[in-house]
Amino acid sequence: MAKLKWGMIGGGEGSQIGPAHRLGAGLDGLFEFNAGALDHRPDDGRDYGRRLGLSPDRSYGDWRDMLEGEKGRDDRVDLVTVATPNATHFEITKAFLENGFHVLCEKPMTMTVEEGEDIVRLSEKTGRICAVNYGYTGYSLVRHMKAMVARGDLGRVRLVVAEFAHGHHADAADMDNPRVRWRYDPAQAGVSAQFADCGIHALHMASFVIGQNAERLSADTVSCIESRTLEDDAMVNLRFDGGTVGRLWTSSIAIGRQHGLTLQVFGEKGGLRWAQEEPNQLYWMPLGERLQIIERGEANLSPEADRSTRVTIGHAEGMPLAFANIYSDLAEAIRAAKDGRDMDPAADLYPRAEDGLRSMAAVFAVAESGKRNGEWVDARPPLFR
Ligand code: NAI
Repeated sequence: MAKLKWGMIGGGEGSQIGPAHRLGAGLDGLFEFNAGALDHRPDDGRDYGRRLGLSPDRSYGDWRDMLEGEKGRDDRVDLVTVATPNATHFEITKAFLENGFHVLCEKPMTMTVEEGEDIVRLSEKTGRICAVNYGYTGYSLVRHMKAMVARGDLGRVRLVVAEFAHGHHADAADMDNPRVRWRYDPAQAGVSAQFADCGIHALHMASFVIGQNAERLSADTVSCIESRTLEDDAMVNLRFDGGTVGRLWTSSIAIGRQHGLTLQVFGEKGGLRWAQEEPNQLYWMPLGERLQIIERGEANLSPEADRSTRVTIGHAEGMPLAFANIYSDLAEAIRAAKDGRDMDPAADLYPRAEDGLRSMAAVFAVAESGKRNGEWVDARPPLFR
């Protein structure tokens, strides 16, 4: 089977997320890296693309040149990943969807709810896939949690507790550090800093696992470092549309926490606990029984978990392999779209534009509720009310 053709915008040399995408897309041999506009400095981007093996005519200096160059080719890329800074996502994603490319966009998908709605409508109108990289839902045991909830192992889910709290912006001296300062500046970051950067991962994972969307929320947002305009810590109470109660804590001043993404799900018949820094174990306690540790790769896991794992039990699988699961799901979806086939529902797990839009609505709801001393507000985008 011929490989699908893949291109990337952003993710240049030294970027944080570029390498994980290249590892993820390349891992299963489903995609070939054919084109890129990797850096905001055209010469650096062209040079790095060539060093990564792109042909000189497809290592572009600017994403607009890449769009022009690729749309005229018979062998144009099938999928474009957008891994540039947040404020550019909407414009680039829109332009590539309009020209018939499938897109995987980094989070947050857009800067406003209205832009998010535009992308959802455009993806529907063009029939092109717009996925959003909530890549941590690619972990095998996160998918197993989702399967356990769906098949009723927990009974009705009463409570979900999600955290994404790290300590990497805890130094007040960072006020002068340009790499940190912009994140808390509304002119550059929008209405939210920490919730928009990390909180949306935790919220998306909670929604993905319990199969429900946030309906209402109340937020306490604070700038623990007082010179910051936007929040560096938030505690959010939620109500999901299936009746589950949600608690979400996100922080960038939690010294000693590293990545700090965790999920706990409590139902009538049992509780689950998973932490991204130890992703190969899932803690499961059925009501009235002993605590069990479910290992990634063990026998009799769900089909969703089995299709998302590659290395045998006892050897750690980590974040680039979780991203690889998003890419392999997307490869299946793109092949189905090319052949005019319906998707295999078991493979239909990747996060999409609707998820990106719901996140944006939650970001604005958190900012609004935070300003109004935690008043409960609607967390849904107008399109889905
Ligand atoms: P970064 O600042 O480390 O790298 C950004 C890269 O994009 C650089 O190589 C830069 O030269 C390039 N770039 C900037 N403007 C460009 C343009 N107009 N055209 C082409 N290239 C351009 O940023 P980082 O941390 O890699 O974040 C990028 C995106 O990925 C952000 O939206 C961020 O929220 C998201 N992200 C997602 C994560 C996830 O787990 N899904 C984790 C980390 C970041």
